[in-house]
Amino acid sequence: MLDAAQTRETLLEVNNIEVIYNHVILVLKGVSLSVPKAGITALLGGNGAGKTTTLKAISNLLRSERGEVTKGSILYRGERVQDLAPSDLVARGVIQVMEGRHCFEHLTVEENLLTGAYTRRDGRAAVAADLEMVYVYFPRLKERRNSQAGYTSGGEQQMCAIGRALMSRPETILLDEPSMGLAPQLVEEIFGIVRTLNEEQGVSFLLAEQNTNVALRFAHYGYILESGRVVMDGEAAALRENPDVKEFYLGMSDTGRKSFRDVRSYRRRKRWLS
Ligand SMILES: Nc1ncnc2c1ncn2[C@@H]1O[C@H](COP(=O)(O)OP(=O)(O)OP(=O)(O)O)[C@@H](O)[C@H]1O
Ligand SMILES: [Mg+2]
Repeated sequence: MLDAAQTRETLLEVNNIEVIYNHVILVLKGVSLSVPKAGITALLGGNGAGKTTTLKAISNLLRSERGEVTKGSILYRGERVQDLAPSDLVARGVIQVMEGRHCFEHLTVEENLLTGAYTRRDGRAAVAADLEMVYVYFPRLKERRNSQAGYTSGGEQQMCAIGRALMSRPETILLDEPSMGLAPQLVEEIFGIVRTLNEEQGVSFLLAEQNTNVALRFAHYGYILESGRVVMDGEAAALRENPDVKEFYLGMSDTGRKSFRDVRSYRRRKRWLS
């Protein structure tokens, strides 16, 4: 399965991008990554590493935050997309599910889902069919379809946000921190649905996660960001077995999280001494 993932066509390519906020704050310092068709790619890293910034750079949502891509390029299906409006990107099949879920609290679950179809021009029957499809993947949303979204649980709101994204018939979903604030069992449930959508509908995912453990169990490939740089990348299975990842990101050490750069300079010192 991993070999198949490797040979898949590349959908999204981020080449060496730099992002600056407010003209002065350099946050991404040369980030490169690629997302293959029908793959699940994880973007990992701790607080403030630059995961959300990377996703927003891709979906052109930085401008509203006074952020700017000042170097590098972002290509989707080989075409430069960094000067497009977010809605143009949605029309090309790329949609972001923002951190913190963001449902319209005063609308019902079903109304929320329908807002996801607003860019579509293929008629009501197609939209209705996709709504049923979303309910197949998220039976909880079907049960709650007439409830006001603001009164549903955190897990249901996350499902609603993903379901709404699906209503635009995306090829690629940029999913920001789906596990945030949810109980472990719900996190499993949501990642399970992501996997099923990936396998059955061929949706590609780029998911930003602090929860390395869960993300690496469901993703095919992972990138680890630290202070705006990719410090390591590889097949998810290989990253899970990597001693440094185990120690610093999978909580298999009680020394707390250090950074890869510390580990590397430590190793260098050790080599020097031996
Ligand atoms: N609008 C902004 N203006 C200035 N600095 C910002 C802005 N948004 C984010 N930053 C800074 O950019 C850095 C990266 O933030 P980002 O939100 O991309 O990290 P993250 O990896 O998503 O973190 P988390 O896991 O906490 O969501 C942080 O130092 C943050 O303070
Ligand atoms: Mg974030």
